[in-house]
Amino acid sequence: MTSVPFDSTVALLREGYPFVSARCDALGTDLFTSRIALQRVTFMRGAPAAELFYSSGHFTRRGAVPPTVQHLLQDKGSVQGLDGAAHRHRKHAFLAVMGPDAMPGLGDLFEQEWRAALQRHDDDRFVLNDLAEEILTRTACRWSGIPTDRVDVERLTRELSLMVGWSGSQGPGNWYAQWRRRGTERWAAELVEQVRRGELAPEPGTALRVLAEHADENGEELPSELAAVELINVLRPMLAIARFITFAAVALHENPKWRERFAAGDVEDLEPFVQEVRRYYPFFPVVPGRTVDSFTWDGHRFDRNEWVILDLYGTCHDRRLWDDPEAFEPERFRGWSWDDDPYSMIAQGAGDHAGTHRCPGEWSTVELLRRAVVLLSTSGLTVPAQDLTVPLNRFPTMPRSGVVLARG
Ligand code: HEM
Repeated sequence: MTSVPFDSTVALLREGYPFVSARCDALGTDLFTSRIALQRVTFMRGAPAAELFYSSGHFTRRGAVPPTVQHLLQDKGSVQGLDGAAHRHRKHAFLAVMGPDAMPGLGDLFEQEWRAALQRHDDDRFVLNDLAEEILTRTACRWSGIPTDRVDVERLTRELSLMVGWSGSQGPGNWYAQWRRRGTERWAAELVEQVRRGELAPEPGTALRVLAEHADENGEELPSELAAVELINVLRPMLAIARFITFAAVALHENPKWRERFAAGDVEDLEPFVQEVRRYYPFFPVVPGRTVDSFTWDGHRFDRNEWVILDLYGTCHDRRLWDDPEAFEPERFRGWSWDDDPYSMIAQGAGDHAGTHRCPGEWSTVELLRRAVVLLSTSGLTVPAQDLTVPLNRFPTMPRSGVVLARG
């Protein structure tokens, strides 16, 4: 029988994404307390837990994210570490850059870069994840107002990829990624300073321009190092969309009826397909927070400063919310809208985008996945025999082969 160990570190690392749900199912609960690295932690899953975690005001991200993860992902001083009015003010800047209106332009840039990359790389076979990371780095730079002559694309792609790939690991790989990140931060801070000195003039509304000119809620310009961290918080997750693109390629390969429909120009279910990719495949397993006060919820007394981990993957696979959650069924998203229920489809966070820590990059993710799915479906590229299994005990994970595609 599944039980909750005194310390869950080993079980979590061994079982990976399903760890929290398996315990909740076995115990008939949505909440249990254990330890990680001997620190007491409360795990939660499900839509009501997501609402509590994102929208009640009882939680902060401060002191919740392990430093090895934090330095490679959002980093200190960034929007994710802010609360209340300061958070809403900074978040507004992100939403101004990457709201729905900006999506057609972003998608068009991505398509241009995709076609150009497939012409540049004329190998018979290539690894989709690697190519998509390069395409997304170029797209993200152009879209953010960074002139391509100020970018060593190969190097930046490598640095951003290390940040994503090693964010969930401890040890030398993580340290190396942190060391390489310092170079990215210096480069990004120099771009911010060039804008401030008037040596670079990115288009209004681009991330580089908006962040370089951003003043905090007290009217103070962000230190250039912090504006650089926030610029990286646009570039790095854009590259991370490559993982969803590899999952989309696997979904098309394993469910050829969808590929045939999209290839024939029938795109009515394109959005449902993309939403199902985000729900079904594993990306960020959980998100950690700390309570800012003490309160009781669902019979559990939360102490102030309690460490709490919300299960994103388990909520996206919760059979009370999704019929047959382990089946890939885009049809379930027909007629679905973002506003229907902001606490069930939580692969990229929950709640209202402006007022919570929900990901402001969701529209970008959906737009680029839509474009990639059509490009993949119409490409004539084939999927040779390879290992497409997805290890569930690697964070973040992806198909083992990275998805090899072949021409002809
Ligand atoms: C926040 C996942 C793409 C920028 C988040 C959160 C999650 C997430 C789970 C919530 C963190 C929390 O609650 O503390 C993802 C996944 C992506 C993705 C799986 C797929 C690749 C993007 C993109 C961008 C982006 C494309 C920008 C272009 C951000 C930022 C935050 C955030 C700035 C912090 C928001 C805040 O604290 O208010 N993301 N994201 N993400 N994401 Fe994403």
